[in-house]
Amino acid sequence: MTKPNRNVLLIDSTGRGHALADLFQRTDPNLQVFYGPGNSAVADERIYTVPEVSLGDPVSAVRFCQEHATDFVFVSHIDALSTGYVDFLNNSGIRTIGPDRAAARLETSKAFTKRLLKRCGVNTARFEVFNRPEPAKQYIHGLDYQVVVKADGLCEGNGAYVCDDQTSALHAVDAIMLARAHKDAGNCIVIEERLFGLEISIFALFDGKDFLIFPAALDYKRSDDGNIGVNCDGMGSLSPHPLADKVLYRKIQTEILEPLRAGLLEEGLNYKGFIYVGAMICDAGIKVLEINVRFGDSEAQVVLPKVQTNFTRLCEAVLHGTLGSMSVETDDKCYCNVVAAQGATMGLEEDGRETRYPGWPHDDFEVGFPISGLDLLDPRNCRLFFANVRRDAQDGLVTSGGRVVHVTGIGDNSAQAVHHAYTNIERVRFAGMSYRSDIGVIYDSRR
Ligand code: AMP
Ligand code: GLY
Repeated sequence: MTKPNRNVLLIDSTGRGHALADLFQRTDPNLQVFYGPGNSAVADERIYTVPEVSLGDPVSAVRFCQEHATDFVFVSHIDALSTGYVDFLNNSGIRTIGPDRAAARLETSKAFTKRLLKRCGVNTARFEVFNRPEPAKQYIHGLDYQVVVKADGLCEGNGAYVCDDQTSALHAVDAIMLARAHKDAGNCIVIEERLFGLEISIFALFDGKDFLIFPAALDYKRSDDGNIGVNCDGMGSLSPHPLADKVLYRKIQTEILEPLRAGLLEEGLNYKGFIYVGAMICDAGIKVLEINVRFGDSEAQVVLPKVQTNFTRLCEAVLHGTLGSMSVETDDKCYCNVVAAQGATMGLEEDGRETRYPGWPHDDFEVGFPISGLDLLDPRNCRLFFANVRRDAQDGLVTSGGRVVHVTGIGDNSAQAVHHAYTNIERVRFAGMSYRSDIGVIYDSRR
């Protein structure tokens, strides 16, 4: 085997980051991946965690690149993207993939994105934008359809209130604008028509002018079985998407991505990196719900293992603006990801009373519980991705946040992928571990 002679610095720390690091090292035998700040639990071949690189401080990344030969940097965490990390690296002369701060507005402002979609003729739910609660409430009173009320800014996946009736819509306005549930992210709100159908997560890699479509996924954003509970970052996902055939991909290309590309260029945005379009397949066609400026998490853990093309070459094409001459090869397997989350536990208050922590994503949760059983997963039919896991002083792995690990089952069809995800996740153990038991069931809100 040849010695790796190229290096990438990947800026992320999540389960998505692990999936991207894995994609780089799996598809390019000549590459070493520096993963910063990364995750100390990741111990894969040719992936090196660099905790000294911080998401909040691009100077730490520049310093790292000066001390280690680095061919390019790939930034995929919104905390970094939203604060101009990419601008800083580019200005420091470092070749970097990821949207700059101006382009990251596609994720940091829903109002900006909705207006852009409207201008470039992409189908999206009818909407209005408000800066004050009273006009927003008057608007709701005048509507004869259900709405979704959204805080404009970043809210960790829970700033959209899908409302069944006017009363809950009015409460949502109060929660966001008066109770300030999402702080400054709720200075402005978008009220849009509630759509019914099956959601789809669409991914495309952009080089500024051309793009390549990656396989789509079905994400399970609700916290609980039956597709109920709170909207959160996601409890699992499936790829291929059950409705994504050639006809749908053609529509995605011509009705969403091509007009969006034109809109980005008109806006003067030089977009380099992944765009994630969240859309709803409705009776009236496919309509965009949201845009994110990074790969989906946990969609990365089902889409990226499918990719067979050397990802470093795709990244070089992004940097040179030659993506138009490239293609993405994928395998014909199905992948199902189930998230093992830090759920409810019993703990002690300072005064010695026993108290129940409801668990992520519902409310407070405790962390630091030892994780066992990871060595029992079957590598022939499953992949493991680390999200909120850390090594303790004894080198054991313990929980450190809401989504702990992602277990991805692999199969020849989606039923088999689902089966393998569950037979493997059942071997994992930690106090308060919780996961949805129905990832793979198709919840189409039209039915
Ligand atoms: P967002 O904050 O825009 O990413 O929305 C989060 C989630 O809320 C989406 O993934 C959907 O599940 C739901 N949602 C957002 N907008 C709508 C809509 N217009 N109609 C129905 N559900 C929506
Ligand atoms: N899975 C939803 C997200 O990455 O935002």
